[in-house]
Amino acid sequence: MKTMDEIIAFCKRRGFIYQGSEIYGGEAGLYDFGPYGVELLNNIKKAWWRSNVQLKSNYVGLDSAMFKNPKTWVASGHVGGFADPLSECKNCHTRIRVDKELAKINVAADEKMSEKELQEIFDAHKSQIKCPSCGEKTWTEPKMFNLLVKSNLGDFTEQNDAPVYLPGEACQGIYLNYKNIVDTCRVKVPFGVAQIGKAFRNEISPRNFLFRCREFEQADTQYFVRPHENEEPYQKIKQERMDWYVGLGVNPENLRFKQHEHLVFYANDAWDIEYNFPSYGFDELEGIHDRTDYDLTQHMKYSGTDLNYTDPGSGEKYIPWILETSVGLGRMFLTFLCDAYTVERAGDGERVVLKLDPELAPIKAAVFPLLKNKPELVAKAREIYDMLSQKMMCEFDDNGNIGKRYRRQDEIGTPSCVVVDFDTLDETSPNFGTVAVRNRDTMEQVRVKIDELSEILDRLA
Ligand code: GAP
Repeated sequence: MKTMDEIIAFCKRRGFIYQGSEIYGGEAGLYDFGPYGVELLNNIKKAWWRSNVQLKSNYVGLDSAMFKNPKTWVASGHVGGFADPLSECKNCHTRIRVDKELAKINVAADEKMSEKELQEIFDAHKSQIKCPSCGEKTWTEPKMFNLLVKSNLGDFTEQNDAPVYLPGEACQGIYLNYKNIVDTCRVKVPFGVAQIGKAFRNEISPRNFLFRCREFEQADTQYFVRPHENEEPYQKIKQERMDWYVGLGVNPENLRFKQHEHLVFYANDAWDIEYNFPSYGFDELEGIHDRTDYDLTQHMKYSGTDLNYTDPGSGEKYIPWILETSVGLGRMFLTFLCDAYTVERAGDGERVVLKLDPELAPIKAAVFPLLKNKPELVAKAREIYDMLSQKMMCEFDDNGNIGKRYRRQDEIGTPSCVVVDFDTLDETSPNFGTVAVRNRDTMEQVRVKIDELSEILDRLA
């Protein structure tokens, strides 16, 4: 059975993910995407954008500035209420996130409970919670700790008494631009806006690799509907998002819906799509939220700008309700990677193979000369590599024996390996002008004409 430790070690070994600032001992909750990681990440973003903007005639895209007028975060409720419950070990001052530690001893709690509710539950159970550093069980009263990260952008006073904030959630940029989009893009309610943007949270205990970080990216859609016309599109959006993961190869048995038990005060309904992460079990991958008119009403109040929508047919004025999908890129990355990571028997040994959908694979094709000491094979393979890399991410490899080269590509999920052999160059052979193309999953080979190679591989990816 695969474990998260194995996946984490694999991510480092094959250049997918590195601990942030590793040479300085690492920084908690920060990760860097390595050369293969950034390719996979970009392919996930492209697939997400294609599904949520390109293929939807009533959705448009956006890329808003990270820094915003600080009133944004007051209006959104983040300055007042975006907080997690924290307690400190009285012995060694290690801080824990109270709701998460309670959950570990099977006491139902989450960050959406009121401070009072959490305090009562914590008081009743704190004697069972061991400090992860020193093992003591003595805790301070839980306090709500605000997760917004402050900055001094544009403040030259050094007191930083008027902080601006890094985005606590990426979606606020969509609300701030809702009016611009209505005024300039000929959209009509119902319509959607999609955005991929960074978010920062002062998570008390960043944990579980990419699952809970302090800096991460979110892919959000906000669908603006007429008030009370939310139910049908909400169900449709929920199902579409689930189908998207399955369509990109995630095993449906590892996915499930879970309804939120504790709703934030403005939400009508909220569901998560959960993934069964190795070692961690089922946990939130994506949130799908019915947010009512809360966001636009708040921004109208705090900005003084009229955010009413006027129906072009009837002239009716209203604040649209919003249906949101929001998913962390890191959690998507982890989902696709964990689901694709396979260790299987091959010949008389084992191989690790990343059975990613070709659309997501970091490298689409690898080109090898059969032997590295035959200059004519190497030259032809280079020529084919130069031709293919105009169209797709490719690798050239002439290092080690061919079996090892296949294994290296299987591990990073390359769908096709192209081999230039003696037949390729032998004018008397029926295979002259062809190459062997080996499939990652079946390990079978077919001969393909060099002239048709690019088109065939392009279709696969
Ligand atoms: N705009 C709604 C929103 O931000 P959320 O449930 O706080 O809602 C949405 O976050 C998604 O962002 C989550 O489902 C998860 O995929 C991702 N996410 C949230 N906090 C995260 C963290 N600390 N590290 C990585 N991803 C996170």
